[in-house]
Amino acid sequence: MMNNITEQSALKNILDDLHNKSYAISDGFISPHLAADLLEEFLKSESEDIFRPAGIGKDQTRIHADIRGDQIAWLEESDTSSPIQKYFDEMTKLKSALNQAHFLGLQSYECHFAKYPVGSFYREHLDVKVGVSTRKVSTVLYLNPNWSEPLGGGLVLYPRRPNTVEIHPTMGRLVVFLSEDIPHEVLESKEERRSLTGWYHRSKLSM
Ligand code: OGA
Ligand code: MN
Repeated sequence: MMNNITEQSALKNILDDLHNKSYAISDGFISPHLAADLLEEFLKSESEDIFRPAGIGKDQTRIHADIRGDQIAWLEESDTSSPIQKYFDEMTKLKSALNQAHFLGLQSYECHFAKYPVGSFYREHLDVKVGVSTRKVSTVLYLNPNWSEPLGGGLVLYPRRPNTVEIHPTMGRLVVFLSEDIPHEVLESKEERRSLTGWYHRSKLSM
């Protein structure tokens, strides 16, 4: 019951902030329990060696570690792990709320685990691909217990220059922003940095 109330007020804050600022930071929408379970799934994936260097460019196939050094593993909604199912359920709830409150017309959601090895970063970019991208809203959930400021790895948003917002990738924190509106970058991380990053698409993915 308590959890439900926390989640409802977290949801309302996300909707309000997204409307007012084009981004939202929520430490309450994803429960600490779910975040811990997702970290466990993340570590399992790491041991299965399914991470691949993330690419850039129109089809995100060009590998350029001087632009982005993270490694990713895509998740499937059909995954049988219950934390991953639960995560997709939560993101479906968020999608419905966003569509109701802001008429965004969001349909599908895609996401991947991302790890930034020591010394890696992702230079300033927009999440919308050049050409015909249907990405509308970006989400990043951080899975770093014991993160502290000297470790770097901040997400810097440029909502309205010269204003910048630096967000620390602390455990269970969810960042949501409008993909087309907010250039952003990931600062160099001095320790391995883990996240679950995803996008709501305006129309169905052609798969
Ligand atoms: C991305 C991205 C931000 C982060 O994967 O496109 O910008 O904080 N990630 O991990
Ligand atoms: Mn990005």
